[in-house]
Amino acid sequence: MAFPIQRPRRLRQNESIRRLVRETRLSVDDFIYPLFVVPGTGIRKEISALPGNYHLSIDCLVEEAREAKDLGIGAFLLFGVPEAKDKDEHGSAGFAPKGIVQQAVRALKSMVRDIIVITDVCPCEYTTHGHCGIIKNGYLDNDASLDVLAKITLSHAEAGSDLVAPAAMLDGQIQTMRQALDTNGFYNLPIMAYAAKFASKLYDPFFKEGTRSTLSFGDKRTHQMDFGNSDEAMREIAMDIEQGADIVMVKPALFYLDVVYRAKQEFHMPLGAYNVSGEYAMIQAAAQLGRLDRDAVMLEALTCLKRAGTDLIITYFAKQAAKLLSHRTGAAAQPLHEPALEFQL
Ligand code: PBG
Ligand code: ZN
Repeated sequence: MAFPIQRPRRLRQNESIRRLVRETRLSVDDFIYPLFVVPGTGIRKEISALPGNYHLSIDCLVEEAREAKDLGIGAFLLFGVPEAKDKDEHGSAGFAPKGIVQQAVRALKSMVRDIIVITDVCPCEYTTHGHCGIIKNGYLDNDASLDVLAKITLSHAEAGSDLVAPAAMLDGQIQTMRQALDTNGFYNLPIMAYAAKFASKLYDPFFKEGTRSTLSFGDKRTHQMDFGNSDEAMREIAMDIEQGADIVMVKPALFYLDVVYRAKQEFHMPLGAYNVSGEYAMIQAAAQLGRLDRDAVMLEALTCLKRAGTDLIITYFAKQAAKLLSHRTGAAAQPLHEPALEFQL
């Protein structure tokens, strides 16, 4: 069978038919909205590198979560932005019972019903040097850092986190966290592992302005993955699953769709992708210059992530995309521009 019997354009004639045969659908159900929480009250300050995203004190955080929930967003990923004076070499503010994230979790869980509060487990927002754990002789010490991860994990669990998300890319981190949780009665608390997390320059807007956790020396290439590697990403994911990860994640997302695709094909696990700060900033900046249609490119990017195989999408676009999706479902189909299909008997 070939042309003219085959005419793929038959199913592209108008939005009604395209909609019917569309293979991938973006849903607000899949969105995870990252939020940055700061000490204080009444603070809602736009993060200039992430326009449309804010540094929020807990009162404003609750308000923001309610607003997002009204748009259908049901999951949030929390990042704490402590004051510089609260940082130390070991990141101990990261596991303080009254730390910024711990307080924020308590507030969200008690004031907003039926949401999932996910907490990022990594010391780098709380260390003076900005690294993801304990530094010994200028090198990130793996096993000493695991102890810190266990403490952060437990403090998040005790505060009421619904899902802990280890971001450090330390060897054995999932096993350490699973053990810490299980021996303290939190056997039902799931882990979403940043399983294949690459050493990427696309995190810069997050560091520089999101969490203000810039490195005082070196980089993260001794623990985060080399971006040329995809077999290694599969090994990392396999290890995390073996150690007890419930959801696995690829990060960044848009340059890494092959990794997302492979991960879904090989593991059949709930899979997340982190549409990171640099990916967001690129689209926003190009739109600001008038070079790209922001809404269209945003929906294209997020839909393509789903097509590649991701189930969950962590994205700074969550609210903007949710707004567009809710308009779209209410909208009538576009008028026909070409004659309707004629079915011949
Ligand atoms: C670790 C963490 C980072 C990001 C999310 N969690 C930075 C890093 O590990 O290097 C980056 C997210 C983004 O760029 O949007 N706390
Ligand atoms: Zn880190």
